[in-house]
Amino acid sequence: SRRVTIRDLRAAKERGERWPMLTSYDMYSAEVFDEAGIPVLLVGDSAGNNVYGYPDTVPVTLEDLIPLARAVVRSTHRALIVCDLPFGSYQVSSEQALTTSIRVMKETGAQAVKLEGGLTVVDSVRRIVEAGIPVMAHTGFTPQSVNAIGGYRVQGRGDDADRLIESALALEEAGAFAIVLEMVTAEVAAEVTKRLSIPTVGIGAGPDCDAQVLVWQDMAGMRAGRMPRLVKQYGDLRGALATATRAFAEDVVSGAFPAEEHTYH
Ligand code: KIV
Ligand code: NA
Repeated sequence: SRRVTIRDLRAAKERGERWPMLTSYDMYSAEVFDEAGIPVLLVGDSAGNNVYGYPDTVPVTLEDLIPLARAVVRSTHRALIVCDLPFGSYQVSSEQALTTSIRVMKETGAQAVKLEGGLTVVDSVRRIVEAGIPVMAHTGFTPQSVNAIGGYRVQGRGDDADRLIESALALEEAGAFAIVLEMVTAEVAAEVTKRLSIPTVGIGAGPDCDAQVLVWQDMAGMRAGRMPRLVKQYGDLRGALATATRAFAEDVVSGAFPAEEHTYH
């Protein structure tokens, strides 16, 4: 069975079908999501704060993401794989954005790239798309700019709404095949979704987007602490792993593991 394509996603919007997207950074999660039929997997720079132990996505490099994207591509057959362009790998110029995108496509086997920004990245999006590389845009709250934005702040309130809608239209016009709307008011996200013919992918952007994305560790309950409002936890993977870990530790201390059945003679 072939992989999902950007044409399939546009057709889904025309049919009014919603679809799920998840991040993935490794073999087993990718296998599970692919087998569950998740049509699009994102090797997100959220690996920064979900794999590499950084506080946010700002320190993540291309060298950090490329091996993870390779692993996700190798471990899947059906999903369309999108690889994030990390902070610093595309903001310098549209040349840099294209050069980085080509490198990601060649070295990972991903089928698309994603980058953050509004009107300032429109030229880069156009340039990458013209080279034959599908681009997923990402606007609203853009985590790579967290230091400029001054925290995790909802976008699209007041005068900001027009700027957001204008950016989304320009990104579509530049050739983006989809657009992530992060922490955008439901009202603005609904308006953008209605005005665009490419799918919108919401994360904290209300119920009217064409698709929804979550970081998989948030979705599955792997992360600890207080969750942002935009997260729904569909499992307790952290609890399950902690229970298994304590049972293993106890068995080693008591001598119950390894038993005869785990032993070679
Ligand atoms: O890196 C990431 O996980 C993302 C999604 C939240 C859209 O960019
Ligand atoms: Na990202």
